[in-house]
This record gives sequence, structure tokens and C-alpha cells, in this order.
Amino acid sequence: MKDGTGREIDYMRISVTDRCNLRCRYCMPHGIQCISRWDILSLEELEAIAVCAARLGIRNIKVTGGEPLVRKDCTQLIRRLKRVPGIEKVTLTTNGVLLGTYMDELLDAGLDAVNISLDTLDRALYKAITGADALDKVMGVICGASELPIPVKINAVSIDFNQWKDGPGKRENSWLSIAELARQYPVDVRFIEIMPIGYGKQFKTIDHRTLLSELQTTYPGLKKDSKKHGFGPAVYYKPAGFQGSIGLISAVHRMFCSSCNRVRLTAGGYLKTCLCYEDGIDLRAVLREGIKRPEEESRFGWPDGLDIHEECLQRRLQTAMEAAILKKPRAHCFE
Ligand code: GTP
Ligand code: 5AD
Ligand code: SF4
Repeated sequence: MKDGTGREIDYMRISVTDRCNLRCRYCMPHGIQCISRWDILSLEELEAIAVCAARLGIRNIKVTGGEPLVRKDCTQLIRRLKRVPGIEKVTLTTNGVLLGTYMDELLDAGLDAVNISLDTLDRALYKAITGADALDKVMGVICGASELPIPVKINAVSIDFNQWKDGPGKRENSWLSIAELARQYPVDVRFIEIMPIGYGKQFKTIDHRTLLSELQTTYPGLKKDSKKHGFGPAVYYKPAGFQGSIGLISAVHRMFCSSCNRVRLTAGGYLKTCLCYEDGIDLRAVLREGIKRPEEESRFGWPDGLDIHEECLQRRLQTAMEAAILKKPRAHCFE
């Protein structure tokens, strides 16, 4: 469907958990106050929303977190989403730590592509940023990318490490070694300007206008790559001799709001229509209308007996989602 400003909304990001097995300094350095199990949507509820979203024109679903693979039934969800009529692609964005463990299951479930977060190849810096010594695990998956039947992309947040006050000290800028992964392996490498939201405010982003000119100097004849690489806002370039491309997601210096195609569902079932605003709708309340929260929560799982295709439920969801999408903000503002 189109939103109020005429943008076609065909992409939904679903956060399946707010938990994570890393503690990235720009995201959740001290962990988070996790929401309770009852407050997280069940597989049935997520599927009901996906069915309705597909009716409204959502074609592509991105499964995210927190870290999506810490949720035990993540693979099962992907299998179910793949069966929803109208949904064409289901992809995953992960920090990669558990990817080796689940890759076979994910492929069997029908996963279409995977994005792996990796901000540096410097072991000490990786540990300083993420709080974990997991670089080898993540690199293991990337090194095996040529054996995988699905596209792999790397997400590297463009932090200016030399301006990181609490960081491990002066560093060679590591963007070049990350970019080179796309020469060595059949993966796209995307640099992401760090957005000044939450703990991200403490970091300085590398300006992608500067990064692009450095890429052009390093890789003479660098050409724009107009091939479709997914459904997100990255702009791609391909250096000669590279297997993969280099993408720039320049959320700070090149706003892409006018072509934004997405809505996002939080793990608690709130449909947010823009990353930077709270505007949206509480779909959990719509799904659980008339269901009482149990008093002794730990003894209960999720509400059961949900008929995801029930017309009345689907109509309620659809009305709520349509109303929210129509009011999607025109543009974000980081302040
Ligand atoms: P694909 O290319 O289809 O894989 O989509 P994607 O690039 O959106 O997926 P991914 O989950 O890897 O997101 C990459 C980064 O894009 C995120 O980390 C964000 O920094 C940025 N991003 C994603 N969605 C939005 C958005 O709605 N607004 C802004 N400003 N940035 C976004
Ligand atoms: N700015 C830009 N990207 C961010 N990510 C997390 N926080 C920020 C931020 N403030 C990235 C992660 C991951 C992706 C899903 O979002 O590194 O690659
Ligand atoms: Fe946040 Fe992702 Fe890092 Fe986990 S891996 S702490 S969700 S940025």
C-alpha cells in the first residue's frame, strides 16, 4: 500500500527479541531491561501480522533483534513467514555469533539472504566495541560465504575510532580492510553512518562523502553498481576485480526518507512507521483484545488458541495497520 505521502510500503522489519548476546557500545553497552516473555509476540501472533501485512502489500520481511538468533524459535518463524501468501523474501540481520550454529536450519527454512554486523577486523577493537571475543566465529561464516546458496552482506558501522574517547586508543582506520572482504569473498560490504540515536550519540560517524572520495582514490574507476542488492537504502559501488560490491548507507549525510519503503514491528508488537519517531500502533493490544494478562506470569506461556486467519481478527489488524501506515512521517529528525 501507499502511505500518506505516496511512498510504496512493501518492506517490514520484524524485531523478534529485544535481547542480544553482544553489548555493542553504541547500542546496549549495559544490556537492557528486557521485556517479559508474555509481552513479546508469539510465533502465531507474528504470523497473523505477516498475513495481514502481506494483504496490505508487504512483500519483503527482514527479521532482526536485538539479536534474532537468541530467540530459540527464530528459524521456525522464518519457515512460517516463507509460507505466507504474498511474502516473497525473508531475510535476516544478525551479529553473526550464532550463525554458524543455525545456518543449516535457516537455509532449510528458506532464508533468502543474511546481513552480518562486523565493524572492524581488529580483534582488540572488536572486543572493545562488542564486549565479546567473537571475531573468529563471525569471520568463520564470512570465510565460508562462497559455499552458501544465499547472498551475504556485511554491515560495518562507520565509526571514527580515533575520536572515541573511551576506546582502546589510536587506530589505523580499518574501513579499507573491511572493504577488501568484498574482493576476497563473494559478499557485499555496507558502511553505515552511525546515527546519533541512543548510545550512538557518543560516537562520531565517518562522513560518507569523505569515505566515498577515499574509496574513489583507492579504487580508481569505481563505478556505481545499479544491480538490486536487497530492499534497503544502500547505494552500491563496485571496484574492478571485486566479487562483491561496496554499499553506503548514509543515514546522516544523505537522508533517504523520500524513498523509504518500510515499517518496523518491535518485539513487543508495536508497529513503528519510522525509526526515529514513536508514531505507530500497538498491534499487541489489537491481537490480545479481551485477553487478560496472567497474574503469575512465569507459569504461563503466550496466549494460545489464536486463529491467525480469523476474518474478524484480520480486519481489526488491517484497519489498525492501514491507519498507522497512512500517517507515516515524511522524514526523520535525529534530535
Ligand atoms: P537489505 O539491503 O534488504 O538487506 O536491507 P537493509 O540494508 O535495510 O538491512 P539491515 O537490517 O542490514 O539494515 C542496515 C542498516 O540500515 C541499519 O543498521 C540501519 O542503520 C539502516 N537502516 C535500516 N532501516 C532504516 C531506516 O528506516 N532509517 C534509517 N535512517 N536507517 C535505516
Ligand atoms: N547507527 C547506525 N547503525 C546502527 N546499528 C546499530 N545502532 C546503530 C546506529 N546508532 C547497526 C548495527 C547492525 C544494524 C542492524 O544496525 O551495527 O549492523
Ligand atoms: Fe545491538 Fe546488534 Fe550489537 Fe546486539 S549486536 S548489541 S543488537 S548492535
